[in-house]
Amino acid sequence: MSTVKVAMIGVGAISGIYLENITNVFKEIEIIGVCDLIRERAESAKEKYEIKKIYDTMEDAFADPEVDIVLNLTRPYEHFEVTKGALLAGKHVYSEKPLGATYSEGKLLAELAEEKNLMLGGAPDTFLGSGIQTCRKLIDDGYIGQPIGAAAFMICRGHETWHPDPEFYYKFGGGPMLDMGPYYVTALVNLLGGVSGVTGVTKTSFPKRTITSTPKSGTIIDVDVPTYITGILNFDCGAVATIFTTFDVYYKESARLEIYGSKGTLIVPDPNTFGGPVKLLRPEDGEFKEMPLLFDYAENSRGLGVADMAKAITSGRDFRASHLQTRHVLEILTSFEKSSQEGKFVKLETSYEREMPMVNNPLHGVLD
Ligand SMILES: NC(=O)c1ccc[n+]([C@@H]2O[C@H](COP(=O)([O-])OP(=O)(O)OC[C@H]3O[C@@H](n4cnc5c(N)ncnc54)[C@H](O)[C@@H]3O)[C@@H](O)[C@H]2O)c1
Repeated sequence: MSTVKVAMIGVGAISGIYLENITNVFKEIEIIGVCDLIRERAESAKEKYEIKKIYDTMEDAFADPEVDIVLNLTRPYEHFEVTKGALLAGKHVYSEKPLGATYSEGKLLAELAEEKNLMLGGAPDTFLGSGIQTCRKLIDDGYIGQPIGAAAFMICRGHETWHPDPEFYYKFGGGPMLDMGPYYVTALVNLLGGVSGVTGVTKTSFPKRTITSTPKSGTIIDVDVPTYITGILNFDCGAVATIFTTFDVYYKESARLEIYGSKGTLIVPDPNTFGGPVKLLRPEDGEFKEMPLLFDYAENSRGLGVADMAKAITSGRDFRASHLQTRHVLEILTSFEKSSQEGKFVKLETSYEREMPMVNNPLHGVLD
């Protein structure tokens, strides 16, 4: 069986799980080369996962005729240049979130992909996991009746306590809404459909932050982005969602995602994970009941979206995490700050139709 060949640009903190899953789980894709500005990172990945090539520069990867998909795992402010270069070289691109650091970056990339007839899209792919797919089926099958609203909360005190290189979270393209919002908003649009407009209020509670993780412990970060973001989303279906993401608050449980319907309430699992628990409250039960998971990929399956893109390339079917989704999500994420600055409701330019739900396949690691 011939595989779809992937070149990885950026071999940092998140690369390990992609390398692991692409090598050991997803049978139809293969990493044939890696590239990092810090060469030792590419070298250790090459050795550990027996990867064929190291590229000196990303342009070398883009010029490799063997490469089908460029996997962009660089930092958010670097996504645009890497994705643009790969598309211009004729490669399909799967990008870590967000699609771009601004909506205009994402829009330009989407237009370029469409012009060149290439696939573009990307993270998160957690919405393809068993937890959120089960929630989608329960909602679509009427278990909570007509959706009327939702609430999403991602509350934490920031990533400088654990990430080895956390500055980017507080710079252009960073902040809690662009960093963690993609998981919540991608899940919401997969469960409730497109958003017509948003309202937001944002602020930066702490203009400076101190890194406490190694090796940069003690370094002060100047914060350039809002870190306390509240928003309201108006869905085409009539539902209204509240979202709150912050890096400023001490809290115990970081994730909360709930969907409210005319006949019940659904607690969606942490959308930064692939599995459960999924909990449903119906008035006749009087308490939340844990639902069985109905789909595959409950474990950390990062790379599932790349495998789905590869299957779309070889079979001609649609790609579930396409730029139509990541662009709509990026417009939502960035419009909260726009609304806050302008002091008004922001009507969105993009519209959105959900892609097909996941289909269970008997062989784990092979997509439908
Ligand atoms: N760290 C996490 O837990 C996590 C989780 C989910 C998603 N993400 C996303 O993954 C992306 C990367 O995050 P990370 O934490 O791995 O960052 P990181 O800083 O650890 O790694 C990024 C790597 O990209 C390399 N790089 C940048 N530009 C390059 C270029 N032009 N050519 C080659 N290499 C280049 C850097 O040298 C660095 O090694 C971000 O978009 C982030 O939002 C991270």
